[in-house]
Amino acid sequence: MADIETIEHDVLVIGAGGAGLRAAIEASAAGISVGLVCKSLLGKAHTVMAEGGMAAALANVDERDSWRTHFADTMRGGYYINNWRMAELHAKQAPDRVRELEAWGAVFDRTRDGKIMQRNFGGHAHPRLAHVGDRTGLEMIRTLQDHGIHQGIDVHMECTVTRLLKDGDRVTGAFAYSRELGKFKLFKAKSIIMATGGIGRAFKITSNSWEYTGDGHSLAYHAGADLIDMEFVQFHPTGMVWPPSVRGILVTEGVRGEGGILKNNQGERFMFGDIPDNYKSSTADKPEEGWRYVTKADRTSRRPPELLTRDHVARCILKEVKEGRGSPHGGAFLDIAWIKEKIPNAAEHIKKKLPSMYHQFKELAGIDITKEPMEVGPTTHYVMGGIRVNGETQMSTISGLFAAGECAAGLHGANRLGGNSLSDLIVFGKLAGEHAAAFAKERGAGNVPDEAVQEAHREALAPLDDSRTPNPGGAYQIQFDLQEMMQEKVGIIRTEDELQLAIEGIDALKQLASTVTVPGNRQYNPGWHTALDLKNLLLSAEAVARSAAVRKESRGAHTRDDYKEKEEKFDTVNTVLRMGGNGEMEVALEEIPKMPDELTQVINDHK
Ligand code: FUM
Repeated sequence: MADIETIEHDVLVIGAGGAGLRAAIEASAAGISVGLVCKSLLGKAHTVMAEGGMAAALANVDERDSWRTHFADTMRGGYYINNWRMAELHAKQAPDRVRELEAWGAVFDRTRDGKIMQRNFGGHAHPRLAHVGDRTGLEMIRTLQDHGIHQGIDVHMECTVTRLLKDGDRVTGAFAYSRELGKFKLFKAKSIIMATGGIGRAFKITSNSWEYTGDGHSLAYHAGADLIDMEFVQFHPTGMVWPPSVRGILVTEGVRGEGGILKNNQGERFMFGDIPDNYKSSTADKPEEGWRYVTKADRTSRRPPELLTRDHVARCILKEVKEGRGSPHGGAFLDIAWIKEKIPNAAEHIKKKLPSMYHQFKELAGIDITKEPMEVGPTTHYVMGGIRVNGETQMSTISGLFAAGECAAGLHGANRLGGNSLSDLIVFGKLAGEHAAAFAKERGAGNVPDEAVQEAHREALAPLDDSRTPNPGGAYQIQFDLQEMMQEKVGIIRTEDELQLAIEGIDALKQLASTVTVPGNRQYNPGWHTALDLKNLLLSAEAVARSAAVRKESRGAHTRDDYKEKEEKFDTVNTVLRMGGNGEMEVALEEIPKMPDELTQVINDHK
């Protein structure tokens, strides 16, 4: 196979968002060779869609904040099925990781006394999100990118990995192609870190861009790793709904963090109508209360219901729409302009704290958010489920394969709190980099079997085989049909019948995808890229639908119309997916290890 270029690194990081970059920096700091593979250009990552901030108990705005409160908030938001060790490490280490970013040159908004400014976000008991306007994810990427490049990481841009390669039970390589010229690459590595992000493109309405086709989930699963909790897909309550060409683009929760309120077409703040019992004592129950909760004088006020957790806010918006009280294009009204009643120079304040939102609405929808409300509705944003990892080391259930960021699971349980993703990336990116480097040093190089490379080569070329019977519409039609079906049948509210129809539908699409053909050759061929992505999209979709069918209850981001309540028997279990001997996906429920008493005490102290 003369057409395959071989590249060797000690550690290979697949995915170059916040987690991948942070992991690569840490591994490279161990003095070893690190390769970083990006599906698109360096710097283009879903990390930038975490606009409103990174959660860390710095206690700069409210000195009552602590790792304990952050831990308790994360567990409550996740409905207590989180990996508690990850939640503990995250809460304890996030402040240091944020300060480290600052030392590496990240710019943050400041308090009057010059500390990193923090804002309110849903489900966080205190203003906790370190931010720079509404461009925090972008600032994180910029900082990590600069730091990583100066550290000497080798970057392989516009490169897609199609298969992980193993030596016995250990991962030792990856097969990939360059997107421009379609040249094949064989990466040999002593350890590999998956940091590929999410699966948002399996749905029709999403804040995710084209790269997010569940590659890491699928690559790890096909290599034999466990996936967990894939039923938990986060529908961010506020995406743009109009015009149609921009539907799904994120409207940061920072708008609500700065005082934005949600209204229906009757002008009612409908979020007051449904406050969950476990948030009643901390949530305002009338509009006069819970305005901003940021100044010292505000400390005793309760938080506005718009800052309840994302799963709940998304369901409330959907209910308004279904019951005929939605906005003209099927969403709700999000109003930040009203703060002019509360603060002087409100328009300047909005433009300073939410500059991207101001421009986004002005340019894409012709709306001036300092004067008029926005129209918003839920958009697929994030998957809580993913590759099962050891909470301390981030190693998956496969030797030599690590994971961090959105493609790894555990920290967020059944629902992620906004802002916990950026801090997740830097906390667990660092840990993954450290442990993958240690693994590489300790274990040395493995073997990459030729047969595995040949098989990966055949698989990558299959869609270009013109002796196959072409199917109408080809890869694009399969992708489109999948997205429509997932949106309709595996969306915010699910039922057994719809989930079973989706599972059958995914099966039928898998058959079509297995023989899909695309015209053209390997050079500059987006049809070929789409055909290769289908395997990952379909795997991710199947994982979500099958896990959702097994979890016969409603919890966090997983809502069943036929099992409306949370069930005790699911209180302490994760949904585990692995490939059975016959190649079929097997789903099991596995008990979560018991939490140590001192952490249980922390939760009880914050109830
Ligand atoms: O709304 C936002 O700014 C998104 C943040 C996040 O997903 O963490």
